[in-house]
Parts: sequence; C-alpha cells; structure tokens
Amino acid sequence: MELSGAPSALGLALLLAGCCLSGVLWLLAGARHGRGRLPPGPPPLPLLGNLLQLDPRAMHRSLEKLSQRYGPVYTIHLSSLPCVVLCGYQAVKEALVDQADDFSDRGDFPVFYRFTQGNGIAFSNGEKWKVLRRFALQTLKNFGMGKSSIEERIQKEAQCLVQEFRKTGGAPFNPINLVCRAVSNVICAVVFGNRFDYQDSAFLTLLDHFNENFKIMSSFWGELYNIFPRLMDLLPGPHQQIFRNFEKLKQFIAERIHRHQETLDPTAPRDFIDCFLIRMEQEKQDPLSYFHMETLVMTTHNLFFGGTETTSTTLRYSFLILMKYPEVAAQVYQEMDQVIGSERPPCLADRKLMPYTDAVIYEIQRFISILPMGLPRAVTRDTPFRDFLLPKGTNVIPLLSSVHYDPSQFKDPNSFNPANFLDERKAFRSKEAFMPFAPGKRICLGAGLARMEIFLFLTTLLQHFTLQPLVPPAEIDLAPQCTGLGNIPPAFQFQVLPR
Ligand code: HEM
Repeated sequence: MELSGAPSALGLALLLAGCCLSGVLWLLAGARHGRGRLPPGPPPLPLLGNLLQLDPRAMHRSLEKLSQRYGPVYTIHLSSLPCVVLCGYQAVKEALVDQADDFSDRGDFPVFYRFTQGNGIAFSNGEKWKVLRRFALQTLKNFGMGKSSIEERIQKEAQCLVQEFRKTGGAPFNPINLVCRAVSNVICAVVFGNRFDYQDSAFLTLLDHFNENFKIMSSFWGELYNIFPRLMDLLPGPHQQIFRNFEKLKQFIAERIHRHQETLDPTAPRDFIDCFLIRMEQEKQDPLSYFHMETLVMTTHNLFFGGTETTSTTLRYSFLILMKYPEVAAQVYQEMDQVIGSERPPCLADRKLMPYTDAVIYEIQRFISILPMGLPRAVTRDTPFRDFLLPKGTNVIPLLSSVHYDPSQFKDPNSFNPANFLDERKAFRSKEAFMPFAPGKRICLGAGLARMEIFLFLTTLLQHFTLQPLVPPAEIDLAPQCTGLGNIPPAFQFQVLPR
C-alpha cells in the first residue's frame, strides 16, 4: 500500500471545505484558551493553523526544527487546536516529572479517539483512567507480571521463536511476522488465557492488522487525520483502512470475551478478561461503574496492541542495528558467552552481569526513539509552567526523540554508541534522559514487561544464531520507512545462521 502519496483532487476540494469548518473551530478554540497565557510559537493561519510549517511525513522532525527558532517550550496549532510542544530533556522533565500530576491527562488523539471514544486506559482521563489503570496493573501482577512466572513464559516463547527461525534453514526471510507472533503471545497468554499457534490464521490476520495500523498511523495519512479529523473522515485514503482494521480487532476481542462469558467460573479466574467480567458482575448495579463491555474491549485492545507493536518493532530494529554495527554485536556475543554460555537459556538475573549488552539495549531504544512524540498529554487543571499559564485541557506534545537526541544529555547523539550507558569503569549506568516509555504518572503500563521481553528474546536468539545481512553493513539503512506515531524500520530480510 502506498502511504506517502498526496491526496486526490477531490481530496483537496474537501480539504478546503474542511478548512472553513476548521476556521470556525479555530475561533472557538481561541475563546477556550482565552483565559491562559500560552507560550509563543509560529503564528497560525486561521484555517490551517501551522500546517504550512509542519511536514506530516516527519512530524517530530518539523517540531524539533521549530524549537530552534521558538525555544524548548512553544505553541503550535494543529488546525484549530493549540498544542504546547516540549523539546529537550529539561523541558520534558520539568513538565512530566516535576509537575507530574498537572501533566497526567491524555491529550486529543483523533485517530485513536474515533475507535476508543475515550474508553480503555490509554485514551481515558480522570477517575475512569485511574480506576482502570490500577485494576489493570494489579491484575497483570496477579497473573505473574514482574515475577518469575512471566519470565518463564517469555523464555518458553523465545524458544518457540528459535524453533521457527531454525526452520528457515539459513534462507533469507523477513522476521516481522514471526517476531510479532512471539511477542504478542506473551501478552495474549495473560489477557486471553492462551497463546496462539504460529500458524493460526485468525491470529495471523489480526497481527497483520496491527502492523498495518501502526504503519498507516505513522504515515502522512495518520498525521493528517490527527490534524483534520472531521475532514479526513470524509476523504477516501489509506487512513480509512485504520478504522476497518480496528473494527476487525474489536470483533476478534468481542468474540473472545463472549467465549469467556460462556465458560466463566467466578471462583477461578483464568486471565485478565475473566477478572474484568467478575468485576463487571460485582458492579452491575452501580450506574457509575467503569467496568462495562466497552471499557473491557478497549482495555483489552490497549494491552494487546500496546503489548505487541512497540516491543516487536524494537526487536526488529535491534536486528538491523546489530547487523549494521558488527563490532557491537561481537562484544555482545562475547559477553553472552562468558555469562550465559550455551548450556542454559538466558534469564533476567543475567542482565546485571551483562553491562555491555544492557547498555546496547538502552542505546538501541534511545537511538530509535520508537514513539518519537510519545502519546499526547494534556494538563489536568489551569497550570502555571515556566512563565506561562496553560489552561486546563491544553494539549501537550512531549518530544521524546528530542530528549534522546539532546546533546546536553548524550555525547554525539546522532551516533550509535553504547558508551552512553556505561561509566568510565564500563559498568552500566542508566540516565534520567532515557525516556522511551515516557516519564511521570502515565508512564507506559507495560514498561517492565517490555524490558524483560527485549532482553530475553534478543539474548535467546543471539545465543542460537548469528545474524547475517544480505548487504554489506555499510549499506544497511537505518532510516525509518515511516515516521509519525512510531518510527517504523525499513522492511528487510536477513539470514540466521546457527552458532
Ligand atoms: C518497547 C516497548 C514499549 C514502548 C517503547 C512503549 C512506550 C509507551 C509510551 C511512550 C506510552 C505513552 C506514555 C505516556 O503518555 O506518558 C505508552 C503507554 C502505554 N503502553 Fe507502552 N510501550 C511499550 C510496550 C508496552 C507493552 C508491552 C504494553 C502492554 C502491557 C504497553 C501498554 C501500554 C499502555 C496500556 C499504555 C497507556 C498508559 C496510560 O495511558 O496510562 N506498552 N507506552
């Protein structure tokens, strides 16, 4: 599918019509923000906001560029909507960490809102968000998250992935589907109570939808939808596929929930869905309860999508980076051979003894900045920030990529250098400016799980295989094929050769 083309003539006509509508909204938005004192930024046009200064094909880069002129805290207008942009470590930290409560609401994210309607964890706010997030964290913990049982589950799944890689017999292949299935199976086991066979066609179709959605959302079309949602609803284009895919995902989840309802034993919950159904039953007389079918579907979706796409994309990028920098891969192999050997599978306790590998994984996450703009935040109340006053509800874009590429925090940030996370004695050292999961109250709910998965999947694969690129390392291009919501690595094939 072509994701980067421009809209058609009909599209442009509708775009203009939509701009008129935006004009009215722009005036209304001005009224809404009249009581605040937003940071200065590029002057918006009444109909387009700052569209002309932004490149929807590389949104975070245009935002970083604007900060060179307007400073680390400035306002841009996405159509009618003013958004405060935070650029660089200091600004993001002051807001998301030092004023964590104030900056803990989710901001507008139209491409997700049309599907979630503010239900679930990731796109809800206030009491609903607090209750659902607390419930999800507790339930995931009860099912082994952060404990040895989830570690064992990942280890087993990593062995399944090794078997699948072995089946390629050294022939070139694109790892996207296999990696996605393995990673997804970990969260599926907790949410749905079972893993799926790598050949299960319903599961495979679903993961294709995930990948496709992450890609379209990270393209020109996804960004344009976020700027002009009402208009883009009317326009044909690849963005419409996002919503068709979401509907199919919803059906898949709803079907699973239905099967759970038929076999539910309230005294012996099997998984996350069972626990949610039990809570729904307990609170069914409460008109204010947040536990109902829509929030169950969306919460399940948040865990399923969140638990699959970012982690598997990070692993794919890791393969590319290790092939691009064979001298780094060689040091990882050396450390693995010393600490783990070949007789037993890697475990989490190894991580502490493997400072170089740990530093490489951190550096990969810094370097790729998989969600370069995080997810939009909003302020929970009228919020004084630096010399400004952000009215309650003001959208905030924390540019996580700008933190990861902040030269005050990382030496030569444009180069890939694991030494960023090593001290002078070559011991691992984390950094506050490492923020792939975004800091603060809304920190990624799956951060702990993701860290375990990346370490265990990567080391297990490297224990069994060397990664062989099909082109010389110097020709490996790490530039993302799309950048928007996520940084999507270029598609590639490689060979895995038994060690
Ligand atoms: C490398 C892997 C991952 C990365 C880089 C990542 C990154 C992020 C980021 C940047 C956010 C936005 C946080 C904010 O607004 O401040 C987020 C939110 C979230 N993530 Fe992840 N994530 C990853 C893996 C996971 C996994 C494995 C799960 C599933 C358990 C998950 C579930 C969620 C959920 C539910 C939210 C919404 C949290 C909220 O709004 O309270 N993520 N993630």
